[in-house]
Amino acid sequence: MLALGRCALVFGLLCAALSAGASVCPAGCECSEAALTVKCVSKDLRDIPTGIPSYTRNLFIIGNHISQIGPECFQGLDNVTNLSLSNNRISEVKSHTFTSLRSLRSLDLSNNQLAIIHPEAFTVQSRMLRELNLSRALYNHSSVIDLATSLRWSTLSDLLVLDLSSNGLVYLPPGIFCHLVGLQRLQLSNNSIVSIHNGTFTGLDHLEELDLTHNALRTLREEALKEMDQLRSVRLHLAENPYTCTCDIEPFAAWLNGSRVRVEDVERLTCAFPVALQNTSLLTVGELELGCHKVGEGDNLALQTSYVFLGLVLGFVGLMFLFVLYLNRKGIKKRINDMRDACREVWEGYHYRYEIDSDPRLSQFSTTADV
Ligand SMILES: *[C@@H]1O[C@H](CO)[C@@H](O)[C@H](O)[C@H]1NC(C)=O
Ligand SMILES: *[C@@H]1O[C@H](CO)[C@@H](O)[C@H](O)[C@H]1NC(C)=O
Ligand SMILES: *[C@@H]1O[C@H](CO)[C@@H](O)[C@H](O)[C@H]1NC(C)=O
Ligand SMILES: *[C@@H]1O[C@H](CO)[C@@H](O)[C@H](O)[C@H]1NC(C)=O
Ligand SMILES: *[C@@H]1O[C@H](CO)[C@@H](O)[C@H](O)[C@H]1NC(C)=O
Ligand SMILES: *[C@@H]1O[C@H](CO)[C@@H](O)[C@H](O)[C@H]1NC(C)=O
Ligand SMILES: *[C@@H]1O[C@H](CO)[C@@H](O)[C@H](O)[C@H]1NC(C)=O
Ligand SMILES: *[C@@H]1O[C@H](CO)[C@@H](O)[C@H](O)[C@H]1NC(C)=O
Repeated sequence: MLALGRCALVFGLLCAALSAGASVCPAGCECSEAALTVKCVSKDLRDIPTGIPSYTRNLFIIGNHISQIGPECFQGLDNVTNLSLSNNRISEVKSHTFTSLRSLRSLDLSNNQLAIIHPEAFTVQSRMLRELNLSRALYNHSSVIDLATSLRWSTLSDLLVLDLSSNGLVYLPPGIFCHLVGLQRLQLSNNSIVSIHNGTFTGLDHLEELDLTHNALRTLREEALKEMDQLRSVRLHLAENPYTCTCDIEPFAAWLNGSRVRVEDVERLTCAFPVALQNTSLLTVGELELGCHKVGEGDNLALQTSYVFLGLVLGFVGLMFLFVLYLNRKGIKKRINDMRDACREVWEGYHYRYEIDSDPRLSQFSTTADV
């Protein structure tokens, strides 16, 4: 009797599951067939759940503890267009992880700890991917090498938007973006980029927007300005960098004055150093005294140079004189001795006479003799 009851219960559950049919939803997730959306948010998941419904278009697996993703994770999800894996602990992305997601248009990997990115990590079958968010996604600056390789190997020629903000990037390997020929928007803000080199932006022929705010740029040198000029129709964002207003900044300031239309935040570019020029707009810095080309400075300099030269010549002559003296030290000594002897003779002669003169007897004798 009891066994029969249990059997019925199990059968009932099975029926319920079957009648729910397509709306089976993995544990820890919320599925909405109407919205074609599956959300698995903050559920301590350690792996991508299995059994995600095949109707899913928008898949959010956010705020869990997923550490690795590979090609086995997303089988049979042909219709997923938006995938967000943000706020996990993903450290490794294997090759071809996203290849089975034939419709994928937007991939959000922000807020992860990517340390190992395999070369074909971002290969997508149909080149559908339009948007890749890697904001705060890299474990540290070293990961940029792996990233550069995967951006070259993967098929991302139709990518439109790439977000690499807040990754602590110090430099960008030359040609890192060279295969992203369709890219329109590149977000590089809040990194530690110190300079732009020849080749940094090679390949970005269709770029429309480049954001470099909040980096570590002190100036942009000729090389960087040429690189910027090659991005023909781009809108630039360059504020909130520690621009240092010494002579080095002049070419950049001049370029900025001529490129106002392309630099969206041109009014917000200010000197951070030296303290005396802090918060001064870079647009006015060309008119200020940077101490680079003062009028009359040339003449002054020539005069100073001639004084220095004169001093040197006099010093040299003095040295030669001392040297000659040194070489002739024996002759000079002899002459001095001679002179001293001569002096002594004269002195003794004088002294003798004086002594004679001062002897009263002798003087008396002499006076009487005179008399
Ligand atoms: C995927 O989307 C297409 C239409 O875009 C639809 O015909 C197909 O049924 C969807 N696949 C699933 C498994 O829902
Ligand atoms: C899916 O991604 C596109 C960008 O590719 C975006 O415009 C859209 O709002 C996203 N949809 C959802 C539900 O997040
Ligand atoms: C990327 O993700 C971050 C946060 O996760 C968000 O603030 C940013 O707007 C996203 N970037 C793009 C281009 O959507
Ligand atoms: C990045 O992390 C790896 C692994 O911990 C380490 O070997 C490497 O030195 C780190 N690189 C930087 C620039 O900190
Ligand atoms: C800038 O990036 C750092 C990590 O590199 C992050 O902690 C900080 O919140 C980011 N700031 C903004 C304004 O995004
Ligand atoms: C940049 O590099 C290319 C070759 O990679 C070279 O032809 C070009 O002259 C370089 N430009 C500058 C300004 O150094
Ligand atoms: C420059 O501006 C910052 C913030 O606006 C302010 O804290 C700082 O005191 C200013 N410095 C000078 C020299 O005006
Ligand atoms: C800025 O450019 C204008 C011409 O467009 C020029 O007259 C002016 O002198 C320039 N200012 C500076 C500081 O270079």
